[in-house]
Amino acid sequence: MQAAANAFQNKLGTVPTDTTPEYKPVEGGATMKALAWFGTKDVRVIDAPIPDITEPNDVIVQVTGSTICGSDLHLYHGEIMALQKGDILGHEFMGRVHKVGSNVTKLKEGQRVVASFQVACGKCEYCQQKLSSFCDRTNNSSLQNYMYGQRDAGFFGYSHFTGGFPGGQAEYTRVPFGEVNLLPIPDNVPDEKALYLSDILPTSYHTVVDTGVNKGDVVGVWGLGPIGLCAAKWAFLKGASRVIGIDRVPTRLEMAKKNGLEIIDFSKHSDVTKAIYEICPRGLDVALDCGTFHEPKTLLHKVQKAAMLETDVPETINEMIVSVRKMGRCGIIAAYAGFANGVNVGALMEKGVRLIGNGQAPVHRYWEEILNDYIIPNKFDPTFVLTHRVPLDDMDKLYKAFDNRVDGVEKVFVQTKFSDPPSEGCPKLSRVDEWST
Ligand SMILES: NC(=O)c1ccc[n+]([C@@H]2O[C@H](COP(=O)([O-])OP(=O)(O)OC[C@H]3O[C@@H](n4cnc5c(N)ncnc54)[C@H](O)[C@@H]3O)[C@@H](O)[C@H]2O)c1
Ligand SMILES: [Zn+2]
Ligand SMILES: [Zn+2]
Repeated sequence: MQAAANAFQNKLGTVPTDTTPEYKPVEGGATMKALAWFGTKDVRVIDAPIPDITEPNDVIVQVTGSTICGSDLHLYHGEIMALQKGDILGHEFMGRVHKVGSNVTKLKEGQRVVASFQVACGKCEYCQQKLSSFCDRTNNSSLQNYMYGQRDAGFFGYSHFTGGFPGGQAEYTRVPFGEVNLLPIPDNVPDEKALYLSDILPTSYHTVVDTGVNKGDVVGVWGLGPIGLCAAKWAFLKGASRVIGIDRVPTRLEMAKKNGLEIIDFSKHSDVTKAIYEICPRGLDVALDCGTFHEPKTLLHKVQKAAMLETDVPETINEMIVSVRKMGRCGIIAAYAGFANGVNVGALMEKGVRLIGNGQAPVHRYWEEILNDYIIPNKFDPTFVLTHRVPLDDMDKLYKAFDNRVDGVEKVFVQTKFSDPPSEGCPKLSRVDEWST
């Protein structure tokens, strides 16, 4: 699939953008550690050239905190198109400003910053509304344009389908339009609370706001990874009366229970909608898809996906459509890539279900609000999902461990040689080899 996607994109040529994904290496040939993709389930920690200022709006960030996201697992499984051998991954990262381009005046060397997972231009029609993930001017993928009719913004470390920008699972990262895509972090907010402004906090907030969780709503959350658990917390903060969480990973179900969710283990309930109606006869008001499209659970879709008759599976979408009440709302924040067979379009139409593709989350719309109104006043402490801390050297092993969800792993903080020691109450450094399997 990768070869075909890359060939197709090469044939079409790239779409013109306001920035380039390539970077200039620093003079003298110094290198850094970075995690790169080489094939399905083949990622490696490599030595890569340290990036230098390439365009006048660039900022080079010395990374002090990075992590792995459920979205990285789609890359690991080779489910996202147009990956190329040697691509540096990682889209959630923070650090200190190391170098600034000649146009950059608002950021100073040494300043602590967090990066948004998207590379936005700051000027286009979408950026003006802070819809940064939908920026029109940073993703050069002709393939995405062909498939979707339009393009998302470019993303860090997320294949050439989203612009081919080298990512933040590295010691240094080049951030194009640095003043737009970096948020300064006050000294009294530790890295473990700031890092997740890059992605999982705005993402989980966005699905709750965009789908619309109102006071008293009963909400179902499919998938209890970091996104699902954070979405559940936001739903309660927005007044949900009950949140029902669906997953099969015992440690995640346990964690959800501790955070006030009612749980359904789908490995024990093959009919999830029936299990929902047993505890919520009226049906859900809101359903949120925080799962993952590369793990079909029914034979029908395992076969269709393996035979390439579909790229994505509709299982969760169908369960959501059937489980909500008439005129209920369903939000899809989980990433999907292409086509799924057998969507229950009848139930969707007849029940008047509002099925909302939440899109890739527009981080810029929410990150200041989340920092100032929730993290600083301690109304939302993101460290509740943080279970492990590992060094960047273990990043390749972390992909496998996170994919297999071993040792109760939920969210991880990945440190580099530039990181501060762990903050009080946060996980201490461990090595992936020491984790229980
Ligand atoms: N739209 C965005 O901006 C955005 C940003 C970040 C992540 N995401 C997506 O959000 C999703 C969740 O991310 P994460 O980091 O929590 O991932 P994760 O892989 O850690 O968690 C996904 C969970 O879904 C569960 N799951 C799988 N199939 C299921 C099913 N049929 N029913 C119920 N649960 C099921 C898994 O057991 C797992 O616990 C991913 O698809 C990711 O790509 C989207
Ligand atoms: Zn992500
Ligand atoms: Zn833009």
